[in-house]
Amino acid sequence: MTNDEFIRIINYVENKTGIHLAEKRSLVTGRLDNFLVRNGYSSYTDYMDQVEQDVSGKLTEELVNTLTTNHTYFMREKEHFELFKNIVLPEIKEAKGKEKDLRIWCGASSTGEEPYTLAMIIKDFFSLESSAWDTKLLATDISTDVLRYAMKGEYTEEQIEPLPDSWKRRYFHKSTEPGKFMVVDELKSQVLYRQFNLLSPMPFKKPLQVVFLRNVLIYFEKDVKNDILRRIYECLEPGGYLFVGTTESVDRAAVPYRYVQPSVYRK
Ligand SMILES: C[S@@+](CC[C@H](N)C(=O)[O-])C[C@H]1O[C@@H](n2cnc3c(N)ncnc32)[C@H](O)[C@@H]1O
Repeated sequence: MTNDEFIRIINYVENKTGIHLAEKRSLVTGRLDNFLVRNGYSSYTDYMDQVEQDVSGKLTEELVNTLTTNHTYFMREKEHFELFKNIVLPEIKEAKGKEKDLRIWCGASSTGEEPYTLAMIIKDFFSLESSAWDTKLLATDISTDVLRYAMKGEYTEEQIEPLPDSWKRRYFHKSTEPGKFMVVDELKSQVLYRQFNLLSPMPFKKPLQVVFLRNVLIYFEKDVKNDILRRIYECLEPGGYLFVGTTESVDRAAVPYRYVQPSVYRK
């Protein structure tokens, strides 16, 4: 990969996704070298010519799928889930009049561990009352590969290991694949998966109560990050919560969130 080719690829990806890869040359070559050989492209220039000319968008989708980092796991950053269960959900329940709906969005849901963790907490919390509430949550990601994975809902025994045994029993059943477990349909139906690019206009009609946007802001440059955070702010209801990753933060001089605790904010 020549320098010009590297710059062409990273500019293209940053333009489409916001993901800043200038300091990640070895990641880019590591992921794309094999991909190019496997798919019979003669060079990176040949490849990018085809990506840019492909009106179907399929080649761009494949490039984005290849260059996104999707690391996640069940119960990641557990302190957020404690706060969600003990403070946020009781507040939502208390505040509601006739409209018993949850408007919770998980904005970089990757392979599903985060939204399924939230769905299990919500199920437990509403328990017998859950039929009176619309308890579904929205989970989105830019990568179609991870969305397919999440919708399938099949995980190894090691992946579900951080979950309490009672949840493993209630929300998973053995897959036909040895050593793997499937999310039960009852839980799958609680999560609505959609592809969504955080650079696109926000699609929400009603104000959101809670947004989980964890471990994705680190991939963006400051201006892109602040722009996303500002647009999310507009979509939150007054008092609505924003959770970012525990190594991430919000620049409150740029966007007027109120600080709750590290990595947790409110409108
Ligand atoms: C490291 S994972 C974080 C997963 C999960 N939120 C967590 O904290 O474990 C980052 C996810 O952000 C997604 N992503 C990156 N850029 C995006 C964009 N512009 N719009 C939507 N999702 C994006 C990636 O596809 C990836 O699945």
